[in-house]
Amino acid sequence: MALLPILHFPDPRLQKVAAPIERIDDEVRRLAADMAETMYAAPGIGLAATQVDVHRRLIVIDISEAHDQLITLINPRILGQSADTQECEEGCLSVPGIFDEVERPAQVEIEALGLDGQAFRLKAEGLLAVCVQHEMDHLEGIVFVDHLSRLKRNRIVSKLRKQQHKVL
Ligand code: NI
Repeated sequence: MALLPILHFPDPRLQKVAAPIERIDDEVRRLAADMAETMYAAPGIGLAATQVDVHRRLIVIDISEAHDQLITLINPRILGQSADTQECEEGCLSVPGIFDEVERPAQVEIEALGLDGQAFRLKAEGLLAVCVQHEMDHLEGIVFVDHLSRLKRNRIVSKLRKQQHKVL
């Protein structure tokens, strides 16, 4: 297994739309394992392949404290979402140090393939619903700051640019 480098906003590669995975082979299994290791090491609770510059529809999520409830989603699609919404403070491994409130549907039901190739459904609410929607956004080339006002987003871009200068 290996730690993968994570793209940082506003890298334009974060805007790419990911392609469906046609076949779950060793390469996909290795990518999923590397993504899980990268997520745990960061540490984070979700990671989409887009964030490691692989533009395929693969997500890993684990919101448990003990890091023992890994969920791998391949080609996930939304089956339904609630009309009621929740507002949650979100962060992202691709937008380090930035946290802001995003409003999203409170419940979501999705269907995805697991690493075994079997389709399964997942009903999510609370933090898991936030995480699933946040990660699925990445596959569409959307970062959580894209949900914020243009003013806030511009402030975040300039703040991150300054941070990047400091570490160079
Ligand atoms: Ni993210």
